[in-house]
Amino acid sequence: MYSKDFISKIMYANNLSEIISEHSVLKQKSNDSLTGLCPYPDHNEKTPSFSVSSSKQVYYCFGCKRGGNVYSFLKDIRGFSFTDSIEYLANRASIPLEKIKSSYSDFKKTSKNNKDIKKDFIDLNKQALKYFSSQWTKLSKDSEVTKFLNNRKIKPECIKELNLAFSNSQWSGLIKYAVDNKLSLTKLHELGLIQIKKTSQHKVELTEDDYYDTLRNRFIFPIHSIQGELLAFGGRSFGDEMPKYINSPEHILFKKREVLYGLFFSAKYIRSQDYVIVVEGYMDFLSLYQAGIKNVVATLGTALTDGHAKILKRYTKNVILLFDGDQAGKKATEKSLPILLQESLYVKTLTLDDGTDPDDFINKFGVQEFKKKINLSQDLFYSILNKNFDSYQGGAIDKLSIIDKLKPILNSILDLRLKDLYIKELADRLQQTEKWVINALRPSKRESLYKKSDKSFLGADSAVSESSDSTTPVSTNNSYDKSKTDTINLNKIYPAELDLINLSLKDESYFLQLLGQKKQEICVSLSAVAFFNKLEQIYGQNSQKFDRLAGEIINSVFPKSAIMHYMEKPMCNLEKKELDQLMSDCLKKLKTIKAQNATKHLSLKIKSKEFSQDSLEKFMKIQKEFKSPKQESKS
Ligand code: UTP
Ligand code: MN
Repeated sequence: MYSKDFISKIMYANNLSEIISEHSVLKQKSNDSLTGLCPYPDHNEKTPSFSVSSSKQVYYCFGCKRGGNVYSFLKDIRGFSFTDSIEYLANRASIPLEKIKSSYSDFKKTSKNNKDIKKDFIDLNKQALKYFSSQWTKLSKDSEVTKFLNNRKIKPECIKELNLAFSNSQWSGLIKYAVDNKLSLTKLHELGLIQIKKTSQHKVELTEDDYYDTLRNRFIFPIHSIQGELLAFGGRSFGDEMPKYINSPEHILFKKREVLYGLFFSAKYIRSQDYVIVVEGYMDFLSLYQAGIKNVVATLGTALTDGHAKILKRYTKNVILLFDGDQAGKKATEKSLPILLQESLYVKTLTLDDGTDPDDFINKFGVQEFKKKINLSQDLFYSILNKNFDSYQGGAIDKLSIIDKLKPILNSILDLRLKDLYIKELADRLQQTEKWVINALRPSKRESLYKKSDKSFLGADSAVSESSDSTTPVSTNNSYDKSKTDTINLNKIYPAELDLINLSLKDESYFLQLLGQKKQEICVSLSAVAFFNKLEQIYGQNSQKFDRLAGEIINSVFPKSAIMHYMEKPMCNLEKKELDQLMSDCLKKLKTIKAQNATKHLSLKIKSKEFSQDSLEKFMKIQKEFKSPKQESKS
């Protein structure tokens, strides 16, 4: 639970256009605004309609109408939760995370220490990658790595984009680099990047001569967190040397059950295409990604865990499992279903021929065939159902054995609509009523006894820690998330109100001109009043920083375009004099509308003979004001 001030502070300690520049090239348009191609991957535009206001730290795309501040950008493009964003932005701006005032403060204190330690280790991994990457300059044409790249059809763009690297055959290349750069050998050892020689294991004090490099002669896959922190490495041997892969061991940064390879790069594509393809291996990821199928992640050779499912859920509900075509792959696919269903995900799958993995398939048949295959992916539940009915003869025992097999899957489904549909299908095939199936699916007494203490009878692994700070969903107890529920709808306000709003955001003088005035006396629409009230509330909270207003309010308004006109023509091109004129025209216009409305209202009353002396006086007064709005606005 970070304070509003802190949330705002780190938002403005960062430069939004810099963050966006990592996804799209921006060019200066006017002194305040930059423009470029929209970075949202599903908006493939040829001419730029995306704008960023540097002083106000908001962005808006006039093409796809998406806009917001740095928090919405990180959420959409990187899939960050709110806390992810806070940590990421604080880190970027080198601002220490504020101490959390809560009953958990002790717990958090230790986790803050943990954070410092983690940062140390991440930096060390970065240094190691720097060393591995430096090998690219020493590449020769007939080296093993060149052969590997050619054999596996790995493209240079992909190497660059995914930070791929390789290690040479030296036993102490990294160690020398570490010594030269004063890196801690003990910590490198903890990260699994160097090993202690057998002969030195009894020693109390170790020197550089007691270690050797873990990754030698290997193609290196850096493994990132969703925030882009370098957590670990996977190293593929160039040929058939065993083991095929050497991965970093589990350590303070690296929990395999909670990491999906490639997600840092593929997150925005998963979000925009609204489905994810889950593969087993690094090479499968690479093949798909460089073939342009970028909404992909790889498990790290482990089964899919509930930690993985929780992470995927943040990006999409739709999962296509695409594991190897061998027995192990099929088994892993089936085992994953209840785990994914428990997170209310929709799961499809497709099977490849035995002995084929996605990488082989693409290399053999090409990406077009692969896409066709993706389109044919089938509801995983049905494919399991079909398989179970292969040897079905219709007898009572057959029926019950199918029920017993499907029970863990069906009982793990959280989405009741989906559960109903699956049960109906099963009942049809068993030629039993749905009621019978539902009854048959009830956990036996024995199972109910276990249920509380052991989730694993559901087929899910329950051993994942719930405490991980980077993967658990965030509490919504903060101003930004709360604001979602009280969005100000600016869809139906008057054009003059729209101009007034945009003038107030564009230039401080107009904002100050209205500050403190009763907005219900200026504006006609309730939502315009609400908007100004909220704006002033933020202004009060934010130590009088006018430029922050747009960024702070943008995620509370709908549509976002309503507060972006000041960045657009004609308003962005108006001279001060013209803007002044517009301001006074707007105020006049709104007065007129107010008077007209009031007149209408009162004359209706008069007609219906409901009027009193009082309302008649009001009527006269308004009539008078209506005729001389100028005088009134000066007072
Ligand atoms: P695969 O054996 O299917 O590897 O293991 P792959 O990715 O297809 O690699 P190529 O195509 O043979 O080069 C799938 C995943 O299991 C993990 C890795 O994450 C690998 O990508 N694995 C496999 C290991 O961690 N260690 C191993 O020795 C083998
Ligand atoms: Mn493979």
